[in-house]
Amino acid sequence: MKTNWWKKATIYQIYPRSFQDTNDDGIGDLQGIIQHLDYLEFLGIDAVWLSPIYQSPNEDNGYDISDYQVINPEYGTMNDVETLIKKAKKRNIRIIMDLVVNHTSSEHPWFQSAVHDPKSEFHNFYIWRKSYDEKPPNDLQSNFGGSAWTYVPDLGEYYFHLHAKEQPDLNWENPSMRQEIYRMMNFWIEKGVGGFRLDVIDLIGKEPDQSITKNGPKLHELLQEMNRCTFGNYDLVTVGETWGATPEIAQLYSNESRDELSMVFQFEHINLDKQVGKRKWDLKELDPKELHQVFSKWQTELADKGWNSLFWNNHDLPRIISRWGNDQEYRVLSGKMLAIYLYFLQGTPYLYQGEEIGMINYPVESIDEVNDIESRRMYDERINSGYTKEEIIASINVKGRDNGRHPMHWDDSKQAGFTTSIPWLPVGDSSEINVATALEDQTSLFYTYKKLIQFRKKFPVITEGSFESISTGDTAILAYIRRYKEETLLVVVNFSNESDHFLLDSTQQIKEILIHNYEKEISQTLLPYESYAVLLK
Ligand code: NOJ
Repeated sequence: MKTNWWKKATIYQIYPRSFQDTNDDGIGDLQGIIQHLDYLEFLGIDAVWLSPIYQSPNEDNGYDISDYQVINPEYGTMNDVETLIKKAKKRNIRIIMDLVVNHTSSEHPWFQSAVHDPKSEFHNFYIWRKSYDEKPPNDLQSNFGGSAWTYVPDLGEYYFHLHAKEQPDLNWENPSMRQEIYRMMNFWIEKGVGGFRLDVIDLIGKEPDQSITKNGPKLHELLQEMNRCTFGNYDLVTVGETWGATPEIAQLYSNESRDELSMVFQFEHINLDKQVGKRKWDLKELDPKELHQVFSKWQTELADKGWNSLFWNNHDLPRIISRWGNDQEYRVLSGKMLAIYLYFLQGTPYLYQGEEIGMINYPVESIDEVNDIESRRMYDERINSGYTKEEIIASINVKGRDNGRHPMHWDDSKQAGFTTSIPWLPVGDSSEINVATALEDQTSLFYTYKKLIQFRKKFPVITEGSFESISTGDTAILAYIRRYKEETLLVVVNFSNESDHFLLDSTQQIKEILIHNYEKEISQTLLPYESYAVLLK
């Protein structure tokens, strides 16, 4: 029976490489996750989304899979995964697997056969085009820079890849390939996983010859087939990563009657601090009002027609407090503001490891300190086109993916309790920002998140209520009202480091203060980042 358990749930994302090392190799592992299940249970989350743990040459840290049914030995064994699933279940925590099926690693046996034997059945698992004039079939570019076509001289053919050339795209036109993927998904479903996060799923319906990469004409048909052949028969959650989704498209994915996915990650808010039509590295200051408009639009347009995911962070994004909060004087206050704004919206929140303790970006001085393939490729490309090193490093420090990948801070010891050896990526300064300190302090960001996660289960207005944006004039104060049956919830946040006024006279009507990030009375003046959520009479 389908319970839609995920509507009241909060999902915690773990980047296994950086969560907890238990065998002193400087790399996080599955035993490390098992070790912290009590912590996750105490935080109150309902499910863990695990970034990929499968066998992989790690060109893109596991998003290049060379065997979907073998565990990367750096992380442990299949036995460890089974133990994790079982022990998590005892604590009512489900394990969600990352499903990377737009592409495999070039080391996957399918691709190895495809490349070495054009007659093999696996050749057609990938996308090949002949070359007649030694030029790529067209100008399509890979997301990590350079052409999306790589030439294999022995075959006289190009293969297609929307990411690195080590990540060849699977050919979703091929029914045999699709059946193999469904078989693999059912293997994981039988292991008892709680669902899937589907990596760049909006790319699988591509039509490279028409230069269509995302939202291709067959995309939704393919997802309906996948649903029928795999997760559709179980009470699982599915969330698609869809950079190209508009609210209309998100309805197609997540409207229950269409039997596709539970929800998608959309990135409209995430793109608000880049220049229009440019890449994420081309920075622009965030306008909080614009952010509020975008959230309001998604809240309104998916109400009763789909389901939102709610997130500030993941392993591809910089830390939100450094990005849109204040990682100096107001680190905790701005962290609470961001949490309060997001957690009273309709949707399923995703909390990324370390976000609950307010981890911040990790600036670097040179490209030698950078691990991430995307930043490194961009660096080479921009150096070649005349940018200065300083300009490029500045944008990496704001937007680079490593910012969110530095190891988790468990305590204030030398390697933050992550490892006893040299971590694969350095740990930041954990003297103040760490789990042990957060747990001891009832006013820490951790307890704000814990409370918010509980509220989402307790107050149906959060999951069911209507949404109304409140106009606050020309200020950085963002406000909204949610209504459901007798309950009216007002959320007000000051998205800036300056005091301002909130003129709606709601202060007289407060029935109950659910959360407030200052220890003072609520008044019409909001101090820097002051935020609250209240039930109204
Ligand atoms: C999105 C993933 O989140 C990212 O980390 C990865 O590089 C690309 N997809 C390619 O799989």
